[in-house]
This record gives sequence, structure tokens and C-alpha cells, in this order.
Amino acid sequence: MTTRSTSLLPRLALAAISLALLLPTAADAQTSPAPLTGSAEAGATKTAVCAACHGVDGNSVNPEWPSLAGQNAAYIREQLTMFIARKRVNDLMYPMVSELSPQDVADIAAYYASLTPTGLEADPSYWKAGEAIYKAGDTKRGIPACEACHSPVGSGNPANGYPSVRAQHSVYTAAQLQAYANGTRYQDASDPENVKHYQSRNGVMMSTIAGRLTAEDIRDLASYMQGLR
Ligand code: HEC
Ligand code: HEC
Repeated sequence: MTTRSTSLLPRLALAAISLALLLPTAADAQTSPAPLTGSAEAGATKTAVCAACHGVDGNSVNPEWPSLAGQNAAYIREQLTMFIARKRVNDLMYPMVSELSPQDVADIAAYYASLTPTGLEADPSYWKAGEAIYKAGDTKRGIPACEACHSPVGSGNPANGYPSVRAQHSVYTAAQLQAYANGTRYQDASDPENVKHYQSRNGVMMSTIAGRLTAEDIRDLASYMQGLR
């Protein structure tokens, strides 16, 4: 860009164009949520079947089934879209969501985002070690601070669709971190040739990070995040 232009307007216009170039392209359309507005009220009427596993108020009582209360809508929409496309493969989830329309997904996401997570306790023998990594990472091992993306209180980053991780069952959290590390959180069940090589928009990021954690780190972090609120 020439530095001779002193008027702000042309520069703003240029900035807008470069921003537009960074926006998702058609290639991302498959997993990017459609620009639909979700209604929490409508979502409430579409989640009766979900309550059996995710709890009537979005707080699940089975540690293997994630709580959804207070999870951000963008993340829920992206994940549901991937379950429906058989790219996040789970035999319990798929039959529950396979018939949902994009509007259902948007409504359900708005509904769960509007609910309040109930606090869970952290295991005192593990959470302190987990807190250290969560807050500061470990530069020597190339592990970034989790709070940079998931926020100091674990509420995530709704604008970017980075998930909330607070008050989540440690059993579920540990299983997901292990799945990211193993490269099994996402698969492409619709393409047998390519089963293990599918990644979500942000999955590579978490797989890289989780791959640097030991089993003890995962246990400690999961315990700490369960106690976050
Ligand atoms: C039979 C139990 C069951 C039912 C019913 C069920 N789910 Fe799930 N759900 C699960 C399990 C188990 C997982 C974790 C899957 C995994 O490990 O990848 C999950 C994961 C999810 C996730 C991802 C959460 C995250 O933090 O990444 C969302 C969103 C979700 N379910 C929404 C729904 C919705 C909406 C419904 C109803 C239409 C529903 N579920 C019905 C068991 C269930
Ligand atoms: C650079 C940003 C970033 C950092 C740093 C980061 N995460 Fe994540 N994390 C994400 C994103 C984005 C996702 C969703 C990825 C996807 O599409 O599956 C995610 C997903 C997760 C999930 C799955 C949540 C669910 O509901 O299934 C867990 C658990 C998690 N991260 C824990 C951690 C821990 C522990 C650390 C620190 C060691 C960490 N993250 C560091 C961005 C980050």
C-alpha cells in the first residue's frame, strides 16, 4: 500500500477488502454454521430427547456425557453439524441428531447457551497441578496456557466459537483430550479411505496441544476444569 494517501477512507476500504478475503470460503461451508438466527425458546421444545443424557437443565449427571449448559452457541452448532455429517463419530449421538435441520441446530444451540452450568467439585489431589498448566502452560514442552483460549474462568471464547470447559465432567474432558491426542476425535465415516484424516476447523490446534500432554497432565487438567465456574 502506498504511504502517500493521507485520507482514511481509502485505507478503511482496503482493510475491509482484506478482511473479506480472510472470511471462510465455500470450501468451509460444510462445517461452518449457516447464518441462521437461533431461538432459545424454540430450542427448548426440541431438546426433550436430549435431556435423557445431557440433563433437563443441560447439566448431565453421567460423567461420560458432557454438560451443555452455558456452552457457546457457535461451538454447539459446529459440533452438531459435524455429528450430523458423521465427522465426529459417536454411536449414541448420531441417531439423536441425524434428522435435525440447520434451523433446529441453531435453535438448540441458542437454548443450551442460555442455560447456567452448575458447579462441580475438583479432585483436591490433582487440581493444583492442573491449574499450573491451565494458567501458564509449559513453554519447555511447547504447551500454551489453556486460559488464553478457554478464558481464566473456563467460559471459552464465544466470538471465536472456542468452547467453554468449566464445570465439565472430568471423565468426559479427559476422554476428549485423549481423543485429540490420538487423532480420533474427528474421523470421516462417510469416506472409508479417509477415516482418520478429517479435522474440524480448529481441531488441528487442539490435537497439537493435547499431543504434548502426559496422561497425568490430562488427569490434572480435567480435574481443575471440572471445578472451574
Ligand atoms: C444417549 C445419550 C445421548 C443423547 C440422547 C444425546 N446425546 Fe449428545 N452426547 C452424548 C455423548 C456420549 C456425547 C459425547 C460424544 C463424544 O465423546 O464424542 C455427546 C456430545 C454432544 C455434544 C458435543 C458437546 C461438546 O462439548 O463437544 C453436543 C452439542 C450434543 N451432544 C448435543 C445433543 C443434542 C442437541 C441432543 C438431542 C437432540 C443430544 N445431544 C442427545 C450422548 C447423548
Ligand atoms: C489456541 C487456542 C487454544 C488453546 C491454547 C487451547 N485450546 Fe482447547 N480448544 C480450542 C478450540 C478452538 C477447541 C475446539 C476444537 C474443535 O473444533 O474440536 C478446543 C477444544 C478443547 C476441548 C474439548 C471441549 C469439549 O467440549 O469437547 C478441551 C477439553 C480443551 N480444548 C482443553 C484444553 C486444554 C486443557 C488446554 C491447555 C493445555 C487447551 N484446551 C488449550 C482452543 C484452544
